[in-house]
Parts: sequence; structure tokens; C-alpha cells
Amino acid sequence: MCGIIGYVGSRSCKELILTGLERLEYRGYDSAGIALLEGGGSHLELVRAIGNLAVLREAVGENSSPATTGLGHTRWATHGGVTVANAHPQVDAEGRVAVVMNGIIENYMSLRSELAGQGVAFRSETDTEVLPHLIAQEYRGDLAEAVRRVTERIQGHYAFVAMHCDEPGRLVGARKECPLMVGVGDGERFLASAIPAFLRHTRDVQLLESGEVVSIDASSTTIWNGHGPEADRPVTRVLMDEDSAEKGGHETFMLKEIHEQPTALWDTLGDRLGADGSVDLEALGLDDASLARVERIHIVACGTSFHAGLVGRYLIEDWARVPVHCEVASEYRYRTCLAGPGDLIIGITQSGETADTLAAMRVARERGAHVVALTNIMGSQATRDSDGVIFTRAGLEIGVAATKTHTAQVMALALLALKLGRLKWALTSVGALELAEDLRRLPDLVQAYLHSAEPARVYEVAGRYASCPFFLYLGRHVGVPVCFEGALKLKEISYIPTEAYPAGEMKHGPIALLEPGSPVVVVATDGHVFDKVVSNIQEVKARGAAVIAVATEGNEEIGHHADDVLWCPRTPSILTPVTAIVPLQLFAYAIARANGLNVDQPRNLAKTVTVE
Ligand code: AGP
Repeated sequence: MCGIIGYVGSRSCKELILTGLERLEYRGYDSAGIALLEGGGSHLELVRAIGNLAVLREAVGENSSPATTGLGHTRWATHGGVTVANAHPQVDAEGRVAVVMNGIIENYMSLRSELAGQGVAFRSETDTEVLPHLIAQEYRGDLAEAVRRVTERIQGHYAFVAMHCDEPGRLVGARKECPLMVGVGDGERFLASAIPAFLRHTRDVQLLESGEVVSIDASSTTIWNGHGPEADRPVTRVLMDEDSAEKGGHETFMLKEIHEQPTALWDTLGDRLGADGSVDLEALGLDDASLARVERIHIVACGTSFHAGLVGRYLIEDWARVPVHCEVASEYRYRTCLAGPGDLIIGITQSGETADTLAAMRVARERGAHVVALTNIMGSQATRDSDGVIFTRAGLEIGVAATKTHTAQVMALALLALKLGRLKWALTSVGALELAEDLRRLPDLVQAYLHSAEPARVYEVAGRYASCPFFLYLGRHVGVPVCFEGALKLKEISYIPTEAYPAGEMKHGPIALLEPGSPVVVVATDGHVFDKVVSNIQEVKARGAAVIAVATEGNEEIGHHADDVLWCPRTPSILTPVTAIVPLQLFAYAIARANGLNVDQPRNLAKTVTVE
């Protein structure tokens, strides 16, 4: 939801900001802008454009700029349509203050009326525009002081960065809930929404807490958090791989990330699984005795992470016999929360920034539950709003459609289920060893699949269905979350309407959607519900629909029932969500590409949803 970057140092910053924005484009891409402090602060050079960064690059032109202080923004619209006037940076009436923001100023309407009453003429429909006007109003020669005063007047969830012509060589930022961090380079500093924005230049990061105001110049960082200025915030060296932000020979990030799943699975397993089947989840924040006493688990998440949570429910209930409640975070946060001490809450969020997931975790934490963040991003807000963390080690995911982080989340939940199963004595040591072996085999199975002839066959099958106007997805047991996830992948990157249902529910409504030729994707992998799924396939076929089955390789029966089969590697049925989702990711990908769509930047979406 909007990416922001600011640079201050001794290098010409135009290109640094543009390339930094390219690394943040996954956060929003409906419009973008850049402001450079030119002529040693004599004026601001402002360029904004509708569309993605390629359009901004063209608008900015090739001319070099000597500016060494600047701001950039890539937008996902919240307040105000997608217009140049609403793009950021937003500036004050004199054109002396520029601001980029991610988030929402909730009381902007009353601030706007107040400022308008004082004669301020607004040029955009954004909530952000109140910020440069307020800063200009509060400015008495100290930008940090002005920003601190402004933060006392605004409400909402935000991260913003401001610069003022009178203070070249300084940027001041503030954050409440939304992410903002300092990149510490050699004689230069960055303020950005996420590490990839400056990873090419430095791996040294200073993290900011919610509610803090920060001022940077080329060589220092000063932070205010209600206790006076602090100048020695620790610097953390991040291990993120810069290659993650490159396509590495693949045509899109999504395809690259689908192919990175074996590595994401290997790395998420890492050294956590002992030879004896024991599991070490290093930062869970609960010792084994306390974990063994957990009686209830609540999983909260959104979108694809929620689907991983649904898989986790099957794994934990089956292996550890602990009841699991899994709910979308945007609903959980507003229900009467009955979680309490003794309950374990798992907030799954690859980005660690999703506003609803963070809020749901907070609600449960306030009631005394032990909250664990399952996330892919070190230092993210989720890691700071929780009592423990399980990291997926999937590497940076840029494609808006989550793929490798999803399978890594399922792997992490399987590790937790295995650990809990042993602690609860729900698994025998032999049983746990067998499951551990099954988990170890998963990355190799996915690797072999991706290197086989199957992906090309998935493309061929998908090509024949690419113009269908609607897809129904059906499955049972662990096949249900696979359907939900497969259907989400297809709709978000191809814009084709999909419905995903437990197959047993089909007769209670969705069957009315079927016409001769309607494509129905059925997850029909081997397991105790296979025969039931086959019965559902018969019901679908009786209506003339076309069945595309996802089946376990080697199954000889499915070919008699389905029009097309997408094979997935053989693994114990409860682990098929890891293997069966891969053909469905490729199926969605192939249909979107056949329709000429930009899968990495689907319309209206943003990778991280930092607003409610
Ligand atoms: C996934 O393809 C989606 N883009 C989306 O549903 C995503 O999973 C959701 O927004 C949750 O994000 P998070 O994991 O970063 O919290």
C-alpha cells in the first residue's frame, strides 16, 4: 500500500530514488512521483505521473540532476482517484515542503476544513495534502520540531517523510503502525517503507517503533519517541538477498517465485528438524512445557496466508489433537474475543504488515493470549507486536500473487504441528520420525515436479480453457484450502470470476452455476476422501461440465472421470496442499499470460495491505 523512499547524502539522488521505487513497486503501482531538492534548496523539482514506474521514468527524462536530497513515492490509491494531482509527493502552497505518505490520516476532513478556513487552497483530493500545509504552518526553522507538532494533530495509521527547501540535507519522517526504516550507508542515509528500496546500497538498518519521529542527514539519525531525542538507535545488518529483487532470467517475478519454492521449503526446514524428528522453532517465545499446556489455537490471517492457516488447522488437529480455530483477521478483530491466557494465537502474514492481521493479533494479545507471528520479514511490525516468531525463509517475494511464501507457511505450520504432536504425546516417536521424513522429502518432490514435463502440460491444458468466463473449484478435506488458494490465484491475476467450495457443499447451491462445458477444477488427490470426490465429479459431469482434476501421480482411476488431469507428486494425503497447489499456481499463471496480463502487477491490488 504505497512505497516511500527518501535519500540524503552526497550522491546525485535522482536515479537512486527511481531504482529504489522500482524495488517498492510491489506495494502499489497506480501512480508515482519524485521530488528533488534542487539548487541547494532554492526550489523543489516535482514530477508525478499516472501509471507504473516506467511511465514516471519517461516523465522524469534522462537529464542528470545534481540534487542530493529527494523523495519518491509509488501509490496505491486510498483517498482520491488515480490522477496526477493526487499522486505524491504532495507539496505546500509555497512549494517549499514536500511529503510522501503511506497510510491514512483519519481526521483529514476536519484538518482540511480548518486549513481551508485559513485560506489554504487544496489542489488534490488526498488526505496526505494536509501534511505539507500543516508542516508549513508549524515550521519555525526546525523541520523535525514542525513534524513532531503535526503528529500531535493527526490521527490514523501512517508513515510519511517530509523535506523542506530551507533545510537541504535533512529528511524527517514519522510512523504510526505503517512501516518506515532508516538505511544507514557510508555518508548517506535512506528512509523507506521496506529494506529492498535501499538494499543495493546498504544492508545496515535502523528500525523505528510506531509513534516515533525521525530526522536523518547524511551522517546521523535522531529519533524522538516522547522521551527526548535519541541518537544511538542500534544498527541491524540484514541478511536479505538482493537477487530476490531481480527476475533472474524468468519472464516475471511470479514465475521465478513459483520456481523458488523448493528452496523456500528447504530453507524453512533448515536446521529446525532434528535427525530424531524433534523440531526446534528457535524464537517461539514458549518453552516446551508451556507449549505442551496449550489447549486452543487461533490462527488469524488474510488472503493466501489465511489459506495456509486453513491447512495448518488440519495439520495441527491431526498430528497434535489440539483444536484450532482459523479465521480471516478482518472478522476476528471485530468479534468478541474470547482468547486468553493459555491460548496460542498465530498471526500469519508474509509481509508482517497487513493491518487487519496486526489488529487481530493485538486484540488477542491484550487478552493475555500468547501471540506468535508467522512471517517472512525480519523486523516487520508483526515481529514486534508478538511474543514469539516463526520465520518462513522464502526470501523476498515481489509478485503480488503469493506463491513461495504460501508453501513455506504450510511447511512452517507442519513443523509446529509436529513439535506439538510430540509434546502432546499425540504422535509416537516412530510416527513423528516418519512425518519428519515426509517433510524432508517435500522440497525434492516439488523440485522434481518443476523440472519435469508436467509444467509444460499444465500450460497446454490451461491454454485450452483460457477464454472461459468462470471457473468452479471443488475439493474435500485438505483439498478445500487448496481450492480456495487455486481459485484466488486465478481470479487475482486473470480477473476471471471463480468460486471455490467444499465439494460436499456443491449440491447446496453452486451446482446451479454449471452449464455444459463449464470448467470445474477438482482437487482429487489420493486420500480417504478420494471416492467422495469422485462422486462429486460424476455429479459435475452429469451436468455436462468439463472436469480438470488435480490428482496424485500414479492414480490410474482419475483418467476415467476427468477431462484433463494435472498431476502432482505423491506425498501423504495431509501434505498434498504443498504439492497440489503448484500445478494450480501454474494453471492460473498460464491462463493470465495467455490473456496477455501483467501477473506481477494485477489491477487494483497491492502486495502489502497496510490499511484496514
Ligand atoms: C496473495 O496472492 C494476495 N496478494 C493476498 O491475498 C495476500 O496473501 C494477503 O494480502 C495477505 O498478505 P500478508 O501475508 O502479507 O499478510
